[in-house]
Amino acid sequence: MKSVKRAIAQAIAEVVARPVDEIARMLEYPPNPSLGDLALPCFQFAREMRKNPAQIAEELAARVREAAGVETAEAEKGFLNIRLARAPFAAQVVGQAISSVHGLFSQERGRGRTAVIDYSSPNIAKPFGVGHLRSTIIGHALKRMMREDGWKVEGVNHLGDWGTQFGKVIAAYLKWGNEDEVRKDPVKELFRLYVRFHQEAESSPELEDEGRLWFKKLEDGDPEATRLWRWFIDESLRAFKQVYDLLGVEFEHYIGESFYNDKMDAIVRELREKGLLVEDQGAEVVDLSAYDMPPCIIVKSDGTSIYATRDLAAADYRHKALGADTLLYVVGAEQKLHFQQVFKVLELMGRDYAKNCVHVQFGLMKFNGQRLSTRRGHVVYLEDVLRKAIEEARAIIEEKNPGLENKDAIARQVGVGAVIFNDLKTYRIHEVDFRYEDVLNFDGETGPYVQYTHARASSVLRKAEADAMAWEWAADYQPDDAEWALVFLLAQANESLERAIDAYDPSVIARYALQLCHAFNRFYHDHPILQAEDPARQSRLALTRALREALAKSLYLLGIEAPEEM
Ligand code: ARG
Repeated sequence: MKSVKRAIAQAIAEVVARPVDEIARMLEYPPNPSLGDLALPCFQFAREMRKNPAQIAEELAARVREAAGVETAEAEKGFLNIRLARAPFAAQVVGQAISSVHGLFSQERGRGRTAVIDYSSPNIAKPFGVGHLRSTIIGHALKRMMREDGWKVEGVNHLGDWGTQFGKVIAAYLKWGNEDEVRKDPVKELFRLYVRFHQEAESSPELEDEGRLWFKKLEDGDPEATRLWRWFIDESLRAFKQVYDLLGVEFEHYIGESFYNDKMDAIVRELREKGLLVEDQGAEVVDLSAYDMPPCIIVKSDGTSIYATRDLAAADYRHKALGADTLLYVVGAEQKLHFQQVFKVLELMGRDYAKNCVHVQFGLMKFNGQRLSTRRGHVVYLEDVLRKAIEEARAIIEEKNPGLENKDAIARQVGVGAVIFNDLKTYRIHEVDFRYEDVLNFDGETGPYVQYTHARASSVLRKAEADAMAWEWAADYQPDDAEWALVFLLAQANESLERAIDAYDPSVIARYALQLCHAFNRFYHDHPILQAEDPARQSRLALTRALREALAKSLYLLGIEAPEEM
């Protein structure tokens, strides 16, 4: 089902002589279903057609009434209200939802295109913060969503594996660290060393020189510095990957910042040749004052290149080596200026793809209403959060369904799903608040609620399967309002996906999944399924199956597992 709106728009477009897409955009789903399934405000046509909106609506009603699939079309106060013929539409939507792998999704718009999505991208020897958590979850969902829309997508983890912090951590490790501690918990231990370095440096400023010296050694390829640096990376990566495994997140590429060490000279040279570099207090920068931005620093006064330069080299690499025509960066809102500058410099360098670079920013995450501050050592470790959510999910399952098999595996799916869903149901750009009791509430608007609805539908289908019942919408079965609400929502799956992708916002899918659950649970509440008589029974089973597929797919797109039982 490409789009409900587009099908109806076709008939209208001819009458008003406007493009189908434009009409499709104007069509609305009335908030009150008693007005009809679709409504078209006719005010915008008035001037061009030299008629008043009421007249236009009347004229359109007469024509649209004749269109295939339309039950009624009425003019009311300048609106055209349309009701679809329910039975054939239901048969089509439900049939499509259960007959093909992609079900209700059209796999169309991204065909032939490649996107590289930069997500997670934590810094080594600094904590994996909640910002990185949001980036990981949002980026992974975007990847799955865009693939479902036909895109080829490569996920890249742009690890922060280079920088002056390594000099500090090496110095601190040699003074106060030991191998076992690093091996045991690399992320926490390296961060502990990093924090200790800063604390001690307050009273002994000469430490800073030591840190600088070690970073210099690293840059010059000193074997001891290089060995420790590589080891810190390996240990940290191992720890990060455990968290990624727990989350069910994967990357096509791990390409850290250090990868671009030998690729930045070419960028600097090109900028110089193109006359884009100017000197500014000893540094070399691209002047962006014409665009109301501070200069983009390319080479620092001490000759070292910086974050932005690496991003310029990385963008070229993603375009040339990975074949990206679209580059997405899922990074917190605090880096907004950085990306504006980088994209502008790419444009000034004549990179065509610069117009397809997008900073997919997002709001902060709070815990129990409180902001976290890394600087004050106030860190929440992601793995701890996930483990605790899993533990609590396990306790809830133990209470609700003590006889369940695979409790551990399902507790993991539910606990992790709860954390992911809580993040993704919020508008990307808004702040997320995290409270264990809210995210795990089976009756709230949560991941477990969606999973539970999926499991409930699965259980109905299991019983039907055991009794070899048939499920196919019976062509002559007329859906009532509750059944119709569910059918009509199912028909909007592809539109939701498209809206989610256009806004780079998985929350559209999360809210869509919640709507599906509400509609199904309303239907389920007072419609017998297995106990009904055909054609109601077979149609309701088919509808339940369609719902189950749509929910499973929505959860998948969000990066959440869909247990059949819980
Ligand atoms: N490592 C960076 C940070 O934690 C994020 C990197 C984002 N990606 C990029 N290409 N700049 O702040």
